[in-house]
This record gives sequence, structure tokens and C-alpha cells, in this order.
Amino acid sequence: MTKPTLALIGTGGTIAGAASAASVSTDYKPASLSLGAVVDTVPELRQRYDVVVSQPMQLASYDVRPAHWLDLHAAVMQAVNNPNVMGIVVTHGTDTLEETATFLHLSVDSDKPIVVVGAMRPATAYSADGPANLLDACSVAACPGARGRGTLVVMNGRIHSGLWVGKRHVSSVEAFDSPLAGALGEVADQAVQWFRAAGRAPTVAWQTPTAWPRVDIAVAYAGVDETAMHAFVAAGAQGIVHAGLGNANTPTAYRAFIQSLPAQGVLVARCARFITGSVTRASVYADAQHGILTAGPLPPHKVRIVMLLGLAHGMDGPAIQAWIDQILLAG
Ligand code: SIN
Repeated sequence: MTKPTLALIGTGGTIAGAASAASVSTDYKPASLSLGAVVDTVPELRQRYDVVVSQPMQLASYDVRPAHWLDLHAAVMQAVNNPNVMGIVVTHGTDTLEETATFLHLSVDSDKPIVVVGAMRPATAYSADGPANLLDACSVAACPGARGRGTLVVMNGRIHSGLWVGKRHVSSVEAFDSPLAGALGEVADQAVQWFRAAGRAPTVAWQTPTAWPRVDIAVAYAGVDETAMHAFVAAGAQGIVHAGLGNANTPTAYRAFIQSLPAQGVLVARCARFITGSVTRASVYADAQHGILTAGPLPPHKVRIVMLLGLAHGMDGPAIQAWIDQILLAG
């Protein structure tokens, strides 16, 4: 019987991590094993699938920068354009996994499943979760029902949209969830169960950027002032995400400064720091009047990716806001 062909793309992370002893699960070196070696720990993978393994990078995901996303995008597109490949699995560190998944979700225009997967425990640990997560990710990537859902994240038996998923625990294997949107499905013993119909957010009309713009995140807190934002502007920021208090608020004294930034050519998006819920546009900030973007329920680090992609593709504030609104509609 013909086996489905899957492209497995390695980037490093804890799923390829090694510790000094099997009893150690938090003190280890990520990105120590090649993806080929990780695949070899799951013999069933090669029995079930023809795998095409590539490794465009090998690093801990806390070292991932937007420049790495360009290499990853190229590797993913190579697999997308290979007619033999049914689905794509990207192994990744968990610290920025949700950012890479959001980037791919909003930049790869293909119905082929792209599944980003990691592990919370190194490959050498007694409690290693990587082998099961990798097998689950392959089950999802080879599932016809995964088509047309954009980039997915599979961790600990749950399938999440790359857009909505986030890491919520520093060490538990049950670290990932999608607090507002919920999981898209589950996978157990290679059986995939979907909870809702396929659908996905529109992607940017991808052209490989020659350079990324600078987009920073300014986190608000009791007593915050404009110092960080001034520094970002001085460093050449073209966009700043305001990770605000509650409904994306700031101290009153700092509001006028934020409102003045778009007129100075610095795009600002309002979103909420560390909590969930949809930031509303109709507020004392008069976002539309001042050209401030409102990001609804998107968290700061995901809004930043939308702004990076939008600005890198020549979109202005209204165009990025329209894209955000479409993303929120479609997920
Ligand atoms: C990393 O993000 O590379 C380290 C942490 C992890 O993968 O869980």
C-alpha cells in the first residue's frame, strides 16, 4: 500500500533537547539532536509515512528571530509545492512556537496541512512527550480533514489553530491552549477528531521581504510612562503594540502621546496585556480618529506579527486594520 508522504522540517527546541540524565526535565540543552535522530525514536513514523526530512535551522526557539521565519517559509513552500507531499510537520521549541505558527498561518496560502509541534520535556527525559507529540502531529498532517485549516499546533493530544494557541505553563506537558477559541480537535492513537468545520484567516499576499520593519511591544503597568515608547521610536520602530491595562488602557497622562504616534508615522495597535477578551474600538482612545489599530482579542505578540507582515508588504494602517478584522472573522 502507498504510504502518505509527509515533509518533516526541523528547527530545534526541546523536542530535540538533551539533559544530563533521564530524571532531568527542566535543565537541558534544546536543539541537541537532529530531526533525523528524533524521528528514529519513533519507529512507527517511517512505517506509516514516507518522510522527507529537512533541517533549515537548529536552535532553541527563544533565539528565533523574524529573519529565521524567512528560511522556514522557504522550506515550507518547497514542501507545499512538492505534489507528492500531503502534509507538513514543523518541529519547534515551545517558547516562541505560537509566534512561528501565527506567522505561517498568516503567510502560507495553501490548503495543505501545516502542523507545528514541540515538546515540554527533552528527548532524553523519562517523561519525554516529544515522540507522542510528533506521531500525533503526523497523524494530523496526513488527515484529509486537516486541509484548509491553515497552520495548526498539536501538543499533548490537542489540535489548535496556530492563530489562537498560546503557551500557558512553563513546564507542564499540558502547556498549550486556545482560551477564547478552544481547541479545533483532538488526536488519540492516530485517530483525529475535529470539533468544527474547516476554515481559516486570509493570508498576506506573500512576497519575501528584503528586510523586516521594526515593531516593538510596550507593556503597560501601574505607573507606566512613555519612556519605552520613546526608546522604540528612537530605535526606528515603524510600529508599536501597546499591551495595555484592561481594555487596552493607559494612565491618562500617557494617552495623548499614544494618540499622537500615527501622525508621526508610527503605527500603533491597542491590545490587552496578559488577559483575554476583545478590546473594543469605541472607547476613550477614539482609535479610528487617531489612526490607531484595534486588535480585538489578539494578544500583543500576535498583533506584532500581523503588523510585521502588513508593514513588510506595504500595507497602511487602514489596510492592516481591515486585515485584522478579516482575521478575527475567519480565525
Ligand atoms: C525552546 O523554546 O526552544 C526551549 C523550550 C522548549 O522548546 O520547550
